[in-house]
Amino acid sequence: MRVLVTGGAGFIGSNFVHRTLATRDAEVTVLDALTYAGSLSSLDGVRDAVRFVEGDVADAALVDSLVAHADLVVHFAAESHNDNSLASPGAFVQTNVVGTYELLEAVRRHGVRYHHISTDEVYGDLALDSPERFTEATPYNPSSPYSSTKGASDLLVRAWVRSFGIEATISNCSNNYGPRQHVEKFIPRQITEILDGRRPRLYGDGLNVRDWIHVDDHNDAVWAIIDRGVMGETYLIGADGEVDNVTVVRSVLAAMGRSPDDFEHVPDRAGHDRRYAIDWSRLRDELGWQPRYWDFRSGLAATIDWYRDNEAWWRPMKAATEAKYARTGQ
Ligand code: NAD
Ligand code: DAU
Repeated sequence: MRVLVTGGAGFIGSNFVHRTLATRDAEVTVLDALTYAGSLSSLDGVRDAVRFVEGDVADAALVDSLVAHADLVVHFAAESHNDNSLASPGAFVQTNVVGTYELLEAVRRHGVRYHHISTDEVYGDLALDSPERFTEATPYNPSSPYSSTKGASDLLVRAWVRSFGIEATISNCSNNYGPRQHVEKFIPRQITEILDGRRPRLYGDGLNVRDWIHVDDHNDAVWAIIDRGVMGETYLIGADGEVDNVTVVRSVLAAMGRSPDDFEHVPDRAGHDRRYAIDWSRLRDELGWQPRYWDFRSGLAATIDWYRDNEAWWRPMKAATEAKYARTGQ
């Protein structure tokens, strides 16, 4: 099978490429613009097995020529960070909305199977004291420029399925952790701050809840949907990993041999979603999928080890990331 992976030099996309090559008989082409978030070194170990194309998903001619030679497109490429979307939303509209549109038009022209990677953030947030979780039927209610552009891209996919009959599925996943995640994101930022002898930074009161899933579980669920999902349908991916931010920070500090209170509070994110929680029973009941990484603390410990052992991977992006945060006092 010839698989075109967009965003394959980013966090989840590169893990998808590694996992796919380790477990499947697939010919993989990666299309990635190598923005600040993309790193060719994320493909170390599989570079010889992958065709890498540096380019933009919004480049219609390039996308058309690559989709024409694929059996399957898995679309990870995106501007992915909420804080950046508050500072400069334009790139999010261009990549997340226009880029998805160009891919959809190409898969329509060439009759290629398409899987769309999206986020639970399209559903907005939940109250801390509510037992509610997001389901496939939860109405869209995104809060940030990032999540609204991801919501827009999902709606484009749904419209292309209904109006043009393209063969597509959508997945909306909760917060991923694991190796090769950019140091702007919560967990790698705190780990690398501690490695650099500084204190973790917690937005607002730190009581916001995220529903953590290991990146390999996310990618295995994506393959389950590609293999067995019903065309045109949406599947939520999660792993019952609800934890509040202050508990995550305390766990990282303790696992790294520091006092669990050795962090500081910084100004909150504008529009900060309070809680995400995923009901992934459809994946379990209809596709027979379940996560393998149930224990967040041991997954976290392995992730800490990865950053300890791979400073050469994250060091080049660290100073610019912290300079960006310094501008907002975060
Ligand atoms: P990331 O920021 O680590 O990687 C994004 C990749 O896309 C980078 O390699 C970047 O160079 C590339 N890219 C950006 N703009 C591009 C463009 N115009 N053309 C081609 N390539 C471009 O992101 P991630 O965390 O790996 O997220 C991947 C996907 O998964 C996104 O669609 C995101 O919305 C979704 N998602 C992420 C999470 C999470 O917790 N990180 C959870 C659910 C869904
Ligand atoms: O839910 C899925 C989403 O998860 C994905 O769609 C996004 O691409 C991904 O970035 C992630 O979004 P979040 O905004 O939840 O992730 P982030 O790592 O930016 O922040 C996680 C939580 O930690 C959030 O409540 C904000 C908080 N935070 C973040 C940073 C960087 C801090 O308290 N301190 C920090 O330094």
